[in-house]
Amino acid sequence: MAVKTIGVIGAGQMGAGIAQTAAQSGYSVVLNDISQEYIGKGLTGIERGLDRLVAKEKITGEDRKAILGRIQGSPLLENLGQCDLVIEAIVENEETKRALFRRLDGIVKPEAIFASNTSSISITRLSSVTKRPDRFIGMHFMNPVPVMKLVEIIRGLPTSDATYETIRELAVSMGKTTVVAQDYPGFIVNRILMPMINEAVTALMEGVGSAQDIDAGMKLGANHPMGPLELADFIGLDTCLAIMETLHNGLGDDKYRPSPLLRKYVDAGYLGRKNGRGFHTYEGK
Ligand code: CAA
Ligand code: NAD
Repeated sequence: MAVKTIGVIGAGQMGAGIAQTAAQSGYSVVLNDISQEYIGKGLTGIERGLDRLVAKEKITGEDRKAILGRIQGSPLLENLGQCDLVIEAIVENEETKRALFRRLDGIVKPEAIFASNTSSISITRLSSVTKRPDRFIGMHFMNPVPVMKLVEIIRGLPTSDATYETIRELAVSMGKTTVVAQDYPGFIVNRILMPMINEAVTALMEGVGSAQDIDAGMKLGANHPMGPLELADFIGLDTCLAIMETLHNGLGDDKYRPSPLLRKYVDAGYLGRKNGRGFHTYEGK
């Protein structure tokens, strides 16, 4: 199926990045969130990202205008009815995602594909609440979406070959390289990345090193672009905890036990960069 119009649900850091990248690649986008205020925040982030590209002369002012013209914000799910593909990028909570897909199934045209940007939750289980499990797939973009090259594609048990091919071609048309993962908790990237981040939090909890030294150790000693605690703050500590819980519950092995310190930070409302405080603090949030 030819995809022309893409609905993106959730205008947070991932949804906004997906909407920007899709519009830059020529697709029409309908960007949805629970309120106009959240949509506005997402659109402001996109405008800032495009301003940077204009300043670096990677796109022109005219391009910027055309890209923004391709993104329509709407808090009404009904406005996604004619989309060829809907990419869900809301909070990492299975019940919330299931409720959304159940509703969406009655609104969006039956031939459209549903994709979830979930970091860890079973695509097969999410697909089971819809009447289109063959047209349901995981399309896992990495943060920050406009910069990161990878899209991890997750095939649920009922995902059809045609759906996989359409989504693979679409990701390539958005300038991304794809890998395919089978539907197990955390897929490929977070099955490996998140236990490392969780271990860094446990090392901090045990006093092995300060947050600064843990991060500097991994940046300078292992050539990671960000230290693991800085990366956790960047991803969002709520999202990191949700992913660890999915790994722990889904794989049943205590090696995936979320670090108690990670839980404590989330309990305190320290969510990382998005609200100004995590393992590090961030000005102006
Ligand atoms: N949005 C758009 N562009 C951005 C950006 C953002 N949020 N942040 C940085 N950029 C761009 C910059 O404009 C710059 O572009 P040019 O090369 O064209 O000039 C480029 O990215 C590099 O940026 P900077 O020089 O400012 O900063 P940097 O060199 O420190 O790189 C970074 C920033 C790319 C974020 C880098 O620190 C990095 O790669 N960090 C690790 C990111 C990572 O691991 N992401 C995966 C997280 S896990 C995940 O996403 C899955 C999950 O489910 C949790
Ligand atoms: P975020 O907290 O920045 O944004 C989530 C957005 O979803 C918020 O704007 C919220 O208002 C909105 N939302 C919540 N419930 C909604 C609903 N029912 N309908 C419409 N909008 C709703 O989160 P994020 O970091 O953008 O993560 C979104 C998804 O992407 C999660 O599943 C997460 O696991 C996944 N993901 C995150 C990263 C990352 O590094 N943060 C990377 C890859 C994938």
